[in-house]
Amino acid sequence: MRVLGIETSCDETAAAVYEGERGLIAHEIHSQAALHAAYGGVVPELASRDHLRKLLPLLKKVLAEAGGTEAVDGVAYTSGPGLVGALLVGAAVARSLAYARGVPCIGVHHMEGHLLAPLLEADPPGFPFVALLVSGGHTLLVRVHGVGQYDVLGSSLDDAAGEAFDKTAKLLGLGYPGGPQLAALAERGRPGAFRFPRPLTDRPGLDFSFSGLKTAVVVALRNHGELDEQSRADAARGFEEAVVETLVIKCQRALETTGVRTLVIAGGVGANRRLRARVLAMGERVGVRVVYPRPEFCTDNAAMIALLGHLRLAAGQREDLAIGARARWPMSELSPPSLSSSVGSSVAVP
Ligand code: KG4
Ligand code: ZN
Repeated sequence: MRVLGIETSCDETAAAVYEGERGLIAHEIHSQAALHAAYGGVVPELASRDHLRKLLPLLKKVLAEAGGTEAVDGVAYTSGPGLVGALLVGAAVARSLAYARGVPCIGVHHMEGHLLAPLLEADPPGFPFVALLVSGGHTLLVRVHGVGQYDVLGSSLDDAAGEAFDKTAKLLGLGYPGGPQLAALAERGRPGAFRFPRPLTDRPGLDFSFSGLKTAVVVALRNHGELDEQSRADAARGFEEAVVETLVIKCQRALETTGVRTLVIAGGVGANRRLRARVLAMGERVGVRVVYPRPEFCTDNAAMIALLGHLRLAAGQREDLAIGARARWPMSELSPPSLSSSVGSSVAVP
C-alpha cells in the first residue's frame, strides 16, 4: 500500500509518500519560519494562508516522484493537535484528493507521528519502548506497547521544553524560531558560569515543569548587571544544561520504573545536539538502547504522517468523509488501529 501523508498543523507545510515494502519514497517540506520571524512567533492566520499557497505545488512534487496520483492507495493527514485553520487546509486537500481518487483517507495524531518517526530508520526500535516526546507544544514520557497503545508516564505541568527554549531565546534577544538559535548561542557559553534549577528532579514522579526556568534566567541576568554577548551566551549555556539534565534524569527514571530497555527521543527539541549526546551517554551507562530519528524527522515533517497513515490504513482502519481538525487531542484518547475506528474524523473547532 502506498500512502500520501500531509502535514499542516503549525508552520511547516509538508507532504510525503510511504510504501509498505519500499519505505519512504518521497518527502518535501516548506518551512514558514521566515514568514513568521518578523512577529517573533507563529501568526495563525498567516500560517493558514501560506499552507494554502504552498501545499498543492509541494504535493505535485512528491506525487511526481512517487509515480503520480494514480499510484496512491490511501491518504493520511494531520488532524490535530495544532492550529485549527492550518489543520483545515491539509484536511480539506487530503479528503478531496482521496474522494476524487476513490481511496481511503484518515486523520492522524501529530504527536503519534513524532512518536513513531524512529520507525522510518533502517534499524527501528522494537516494542515496547519508552519515548520522550519533546516539541514546542508537548513534553511527554510515554510507554509504547504498540501502535495506538500508549501509557503517558509523565508530562509538563506548564511550558513544554520547546516552548521554554523559545521563550528564553526571546528574553535573550534572539529571533524566531528560538530553540536552534539558543542552542547555537549556548555553544559559545562557558559551562558553570550560570547554574539554573533542575525542576522537579528532587522529588519522585515523571512530570516536568519548565516555566520557572525562564524566570530564573531573567533574575540571574538582572542580578548580573551589564549584559554583554558573553554573559548572554553563558546564560544560554546554563539554561540548555538545566533543560537537558532534567530531561535525562527523567528519562533514566522512566526506564528504571518500567524496566523497558529501549528509549526513543522524538519531537523538535530532539534535534538538540547536547540532548542527543547526553542521552546517548546515559543509555551507554545504564545499558539501554537509545534511538533517535534523524534530525529532519525530529522536527515537523510529513514522512512520519505518511508512515503512521500507512500503519493504520494497512491495518484496515477507515473513516467517513468528515473533515477533522482538532486543536486539542489528548494522546490518552488514541487506540490501536481498528476496522471501524473514526479516530480523527470529529470536527472540533473551538
Ligand atoms: O516538533 P516541532 O518541530 O513542532 C511542534 O510540534 O511543536 O518542535 C518545535 C520546537 C520549537 O520549540 C523549537 O524551538 C524546538 O522544537 N527546537 C529546538 C531545536 N530545534 C528545534 N530546541 C532546542 N534545540 C534545538 N536544536
Ligand atoms: Zn511537531
